[in-house]
Amino acid sequence: MKWRLAVLGGDGVGPEVMEASLEVLRATAERYGHEFTADLKDVGFAAYERCGNPLPEETLAACRSADAVLLGAVGDPRSEGVPVELRPEAALLALRKEMGCYANLRPVRLLPALASASPLRPEIVDGTDLVIVRELAGGLYYSEPRGPIEDGRAAVDTMKYHQDEVVRIARVAFETARGRRKSVLSVDKANVLHSSRLWRRVVDEIAEEYPDVECAHMLVDRAAMELVLNPSSFDVMLMPNLFGDVLSDEAAAVVGSIGLLASASIGSGSGGIFEPVHGSAPDIAGTGTANPLAMILSAALLLRHVYSLEEEAVAIESAVGQVLEDGLRTSDLIRGGDVEEAGAGAVGTAEMGAAVAAAITNVGMSANA
Ligand code: IPM
Ligand code: MN
Repeated sequence: MKWRLAVLGGDGVGPEVMEASLEVLRATAERYGHEFTADLKDVGFAAYERCGNPLPEETLAACRSADAVLLGAVGDPRSEGVPVELRPEAALLALRKEMGCYANLRPVRLLPALASASPLRPEIVDGTDLVIVRELAGGLYYSEPRGPIEDGRAAVDTMKYHQDEVVRIARVAFETARGRRKSVLSVDKANVLHSSRLWRRVVDEIAEEYPDVECAHMLVDRAAMELVLNPSSFDVMLMPNLFGDVLSDEAAAVVGSIGLLASASIGSGSGGIFEPVHGSAPDIAGTGTANPLAMILSAALLLRHVYSLEEEAVAIESAVGQVLEDGLRTSDLIRGGDVEEAGAGAVGTAEMGAAVAAAITNVGMSANA
């Protein structure tokens, strides 16, 4: 099979983690007899600096004509003086919208080798394996009116949901649950927000189409608490855009590091944007120390979702598990003790990427032996 990917490294650590993930994809393609092309384009502040547009037409065109998009990260502190519509974040939101990606799937699993990287006690975090299904094309991120009002002395954002938007994201959650432990927890703020009351009503309606899947609701403040008290109790967590943004960082920290969390942004088509949950981390950009595993695991999600290449996706995920079992750690995964001491034992981005790539090649060899 030939994979035709648009590859957008973006800003900060984005290009570094992307390089590691391309190395892993190359190893996977070689091992399993695939070919792939990577159409490299810029996005975010990097693109803005080059051509004055954080989402250039040629980048968008490349994304549209590819099977799927691999995206590193966007964001740069130097963009603070730039008009909001030309900031890197605006480019990402526009890209998601343009590509019709309304569902963001963020799997959160405690890898056995990383039990000690969690800030929580092992007996609490053990067995954590959930998926956040975040609505990605509506809600507070996009609804109108928005912007400054009253000569800039006030500002407004709007959280609006149309029932059709809730229907389609709810179906993604229930379908996802069917492939798992068949339980959906929908997160909202229905005791206060009108949009959440609509959300809850529509989710209940869709739940009737899935009698085999358990459906419950939880207020977002309670959900934030339960995520640290009882993270292993969740299966699929369905939530509006903003709540999904906030709770996925929390969930990432619970299982060890945001440097591990991959995501698939998908819509009704077969493609999508595959992006780590972490940002551009400008503080460590260029140091070669960023954790590439979230980007690498996002590439695995791409192979699974876009090409149904389950074996290849599992090979990447197992290789990640393997290098962690072997004790390899980027510095974000080393908790406690002296920071410098921890840093001394850590591997860099390239070394981690090369180790995962090598593990894929070796897994293939031992399976054949
Ligand atoms: C994420 C990021 C983005 C978001 C930002 C960079 C716009 O935080 O993917 O979680 O808020 O969606
Ligand atoms: Mn976020």
